[in-house]
Amino acid sequence: MSVSTLFPAQLYAPFALEAARTVFLRDNPGYAATARLRDLRATEYARLDRQGHTYLDYTGGGLYAEGQVRRHLDLLQENVFGNPHSVNPTSMAATRLVDAARAYVYKFFRASPEEYTVIFTANASGALKLVGEAYPFAPGSRYLLTFDNHNSVNGIREFAQAKGAEVLYLPVVPPDLRISQERLEEFLGKSEPGQANLFAFPAQSNFSGVQHPLELIAQAHAAGWDVLLDGAAFTPTNRLDLSLWKPDFVSLSFYKIFGYPTGVGCLLARKDALKKLCRPWFAGGTITIASVQGCGHYLADSEAAFEDGTVDYLNLPAIHIGLEYIDSIGMELIHNRVVELTGWLLKELAGLCHSNGAPLVRIYGPTDTACRGGTIAFNFYDPDAVLVDYHKVEQLANSFNISLRTGCFCNPGAGELAHGLTTDEMREAFQNEERMTLEQFQAIVLSKHKKSAGAVRVSLGIASNFADVYRFLGFAAGFLDRPAEGQ
Ligand SMILES: Cc1ncc(COP(=O)(O)O)c(C=O)c1O
Repeated sequence: MSVSTLFPAQLYAPFALEAARTVFLRDNPGYAATARLRDLRATEYARLDRQGHTYLDYTGGGLYAEGQVRRHLDLLQENVFGNPHSVNPTSMAATRLVDAARAYVYKFFRASPEEYTVIFTANASGALKLVGEAYPFAPGSRYLLTFDNHNSVNGIREFAQAKGAEVLYLPVVPPDLRISQERLEEFLGKSEPGQANLFAFPAQSNFSGVQHPLELIAQAHAAGWDVLLDGAAFTPTNRLDLSLWKPDFVSLSFYKIFGYPTGVGCLLARKDALKKLCRPWFAGGTITIASVQGCGHYLADSEAAFEDGTVDYLNLPAIHIGLEYIDSIGMELIHNRVVELTGWLLKELAGLCHSNGAPLVRIYGPTDTACRGGTIAFNFYDPDAVLVDYHKVEQLANSFNISLRTGCFCNPGAGELAHGLTTDEMREAFQNEERMTLEQFQAIVLSKHKKSAGAVRVSLGIASNFADVYRFLGFAAGFLDRPAEGQ
């Protein structure tokens, strides 16, 4: 029996949830092995159920365990920490914790300190900017990136273009929004020997959930490219093992993995790739010496050269705490649970049909769990195939205390291809001298081209459980047999 047969009449009735859970557990026998996370939901994340939240925006931000915050607070309350740029007792106490956090990052990502450097940044975007502004783009060099990159990766094209490099976009192909090997080979073949060539792709798309094969890293290396792997959406529910995969640069944000603290990310950079970067400035902490009268400076010979000013030394111990916490659960366990819940939600969502047989949702990206993560983008359509405005979807979700995301998720390229928007249609939007807001842009695309310029996104993570996806499916079923207008 498909669980969707229980909808929508018995939507929120507890026995319907229990019946659905029984079917789910029968069909997903591996799920029982993730019971540790069920228990943690009841203890470390009890606030979700206490306040009746259905949290479905883990790709936006992860959730922290209460114990992480308590450990961090205890540490701060019981110690005195000074700026680590000195060598006094409080400074050295901070330095020890910063060093320990860095050492744990190496361990967590299985990165050898001989091979990689861990550079703390404010977030993934900060890591990406460090690479973009310092990469030796020049006339004759190339910046190749997949269409489904986050804007913080797209933005590097401004540095590339300013230095005369060519920017090339490798399309992802609907409906699965994966790249084609053939096109990739064609694009990789465009590198010029002796030039700096950078290829950037997300390990997991924050739009479609697609996980591009990490084998692309070695393939690009063999074709003469440096590789920037955006790990921001991948690392919260997948093991990134840098003893196996050797990207030159990896960007990520820690709050996406374990929720707390915000404001810290990192760039993991291969030491030989780091040597190619040319920093456009120096700052406090990045140099060995600088002189005003001598008008010179020497950059530090370590991660310090890339950590501008004072690192976030009071929060870095919380990174250590967060990573230890994830290790105490096991990334594989988190991964497995998210895969099982995602598979169920994909299947059930895709199976929802109006009475006239028309499908309720169009999913952008793969509809099974092979090589994809727990991020699902889609739109609702009414029985006459009219698009339901995602603003309305969001408003309704809010009224049920469901946290989801709508819009383009800072990932315009994947959306443009998923929605069938053409180069000409997009170019038109940028003829305006006046700044256009997202709302104006979306209104024009909808009225002129009858196409959506946005979608709804739900994403699962560490504290997700069956009740969350069940509740969301019930919410989705509420759109069945209703006209798009007037909802
Ligand atoms: C794939 C991807 N890359 C980069 C980022 C940027 O992360 P941050 O906003 O933490 O800098 C995000 C954020 O959602 C993301 O999903």
